[in-house]
Amino acid sequence: MIDLISIRELESETVQSLIDLAATFKKRIEAGERIDPDVRRTIGLLFFENSTRTRVSFEQAASYLGHKCVNFAGSGSSMKKGETLKDTILTLRHERLEAIVMRHQSSGACHLAKKFFPGPIINAGDGRHEHPTQALADALTILERKKRIAGLKIAIVGDVSHSRVARSNAWLLSKLGAEVRFVGPRSLLPGQTSRLPATVYYDLRTGLTDADVVMALRLQRERMESGTLAVGEYRRLYQINRSTLRAAHSDAIVMHPGPLNRGVEIDDLTADGPASTIHEQVTNGIFVRMAAIDWAFRSSRFAEAAL
Ligand code: NCD
Repeated sequence: MIDLISIRELESETVQSLIDLAATFKKRIEAGERIDPDVRRTIGLLFFENSTRTRVSFEQAASYLGHKCVNFAGSGSSMKKGETLKDTILTLRHERLEAIVMRHQSSGACHLAKKFFPGPIINAGDGRHEHPTQALADALTILERKKRIAGLKIAIVGDVSHSRVARSNAWLLSKLGAEVRFVGPRSLLPGQTSRLPATVYYDLRTGLTDADVVMALRLQRERMESGTLAVGEYRRLYQINRSTLRAAHSDAIVMHPGPLNRGVEIDDLTADGPASTIHEQVTNGIFVRMAAIDWAFRSSRFAEAAL
């Protein structure tokens, strides 16, 4: 395996070893260690959608590993002149980039890119498909706070149907033995037939009952048809706050991948309170991205690929 496109296609041993590698990088960086790469690589960061934390943390990760990043924003590129994704990827290949980290609005864009690029492709979020490094960051955060993942009850609440974070987390957390629940209104949850490894709850209190981890999701209005949702109604029925959290375990942690719509899916007191892991998730994002980059470059197919 060379690419990191989806958690679904990884063995649970690989997922665990990526998390372990991230934890090791975290210790080394926090101890002030400098990491010298065997070979200094050039990584293209291709972001066709907005991003703050994912993009910054990939840059941080690459620079901690001693690699170099070249930034490419879809909006300032020749794609605005009609160039296809295929031709863009081929161009970047011949610009001698050695790996691509890509965020794209279409599910499956990374699989397409992989056809035209010999080096590793790391998915930084494709449509509503997957966001594997976010799930890895979340898993590392859960492990730090709860010391285990197997056996935990994890409620992922809100706009699951548009969320690549929910999908990657459902795959990852269930592979590592957690019970995953999707909680939200019918209009924002995938159908029971979606074959995602999670149980669906339409009632917040039932879905949160005895949960060890509550993960709120952003309402992704940019992916919704207009008129799909009444925000006031959503807030009243599904907001994560002190009152609704009473159904969960008394020491439940509250997660959110960001960006937050404060006062909508989560209230201020909860977002800024002691149960919140929001900032830990951001920091851990750096170390899991170091693990992803290091792992992708160390794979044998890369060593054989002639650029
Ligand atoms: C998420 C994304 O882009 O998928 N953000 C992130 O990377 N932390 C979630 C979102 O946009 O709501």
